[in-house]
Amino acid sequence: MAQKVALITAGTAGLGAQIARVLAPDFRLAINYANNQARAQALVDELDKVPSTTSSGHSPRFELIRADVGDRSAVQQLIKDTVSKFGRLDVIVSNAGWTRVTNFNDLDEAMEDADWDKCFLYNVKSHLWLMHAAKPHLEETEGAFITTASVAGVKPSGSSLAYSVSKAATIHLTKGLATICSPKIRVNSVSPGLLLTDWGLSFGPEKIEKATAATKLKRLATVEASLQSFPFWQVMLTITTGCRGSSAGTGDD
Ligand SMILES: NC(=O)c1ccc[n+]([C@@H]2O[C@H](COP(=O)([O-])OP(=O)(O)OC[C@H]3O[C@@H](n4cnc5c(N)ncnc54)[C@H](OP(=O)(O)O)[C@@H]3O)[C@@H](O)[C@H]2O)c1
Repeated sequence: MAQKVALITAGTAGLGAQIARVLAPDFRLAINYANNQARAQALVDELDKVPSTTSSGHSPRFELIRADVGDRSAVQQLIKDTVSKFGRLDVIVSNAGWTRVTNFNDLDEAMEDADWDKCFLYNVKSHLWLMHAAKPHLEETEGAFITTASVAGVKPSGSSLAYSVSKAATIHLTKGLATICSPKIRVNSVSPGLLLTDWGLSFGPEKIEKATAATKLKRLATVEASLQSFPFWQVMLTITTGCRGSSAGTGDD
């Protein structure tokens, strides 16, 4: 049987890179990034050492594809490149997002038009463009499409009002896509809490301490633990659809 192919956007650091590590034994991976080539290559060098669970011997196992997912034509090209390199597409983890850290409780800080535009570009429209470009390929394989939302999209909180509202829109968009694209394509979303990736660390010590204190367990989930403790990923890749905006995390972004 042909080995399945997954595309992970924003896949070279933080949550995306950890998803790549979890999928690497079973899947061939197209790993997207936009800026940091050296970091992207270091991840592929690491993944190349992971034994494959299949003996298909298909090449390439892992391929980096540079594309800014905030650019519609780049998203279309990303899908074309993935399919031309791998010959099929079974799973997309649409993981890229954008924010600018503000004081959530200060309405004046929520009035920056550019923040709203960029949040909606990366946190909403990029997922829509990706699904539209990938739909025929995912239909062919009866594949899965997963968006990364946030606890901030479930509860008004996090790095900014624009981010929180746009992540709520990610969840609603995902439900809409599930409605439109089922039954051939399974569509789901995950909503992590604060994770100490480069992104999470950009919040600064004060916000991180506050977010930690607000959790029931008085500690934040690590990216490794959030995925390890997640047969959820396996479930989403195989049987469910309809986006249960799962609050996987314990923090609030
Ligand atoms: N960390 C948290 O606390 C947290 C909580 C809830 C939800 N989330 C969500 O989780 C997702 C991933 O966050 P993270 O914490 O893993 O971030 P991260 O550690 O900062 O990683 C960001 C990734 O995005 C890539 N990237 C940056 N700009 C891009 C663009 N324009 N197009 C494509 N890729 C781009 C980066 O590669 P290059 O720099 O090389 O481009 C890198 O691979 C986001 O959707 C975020 O909203 C994060």
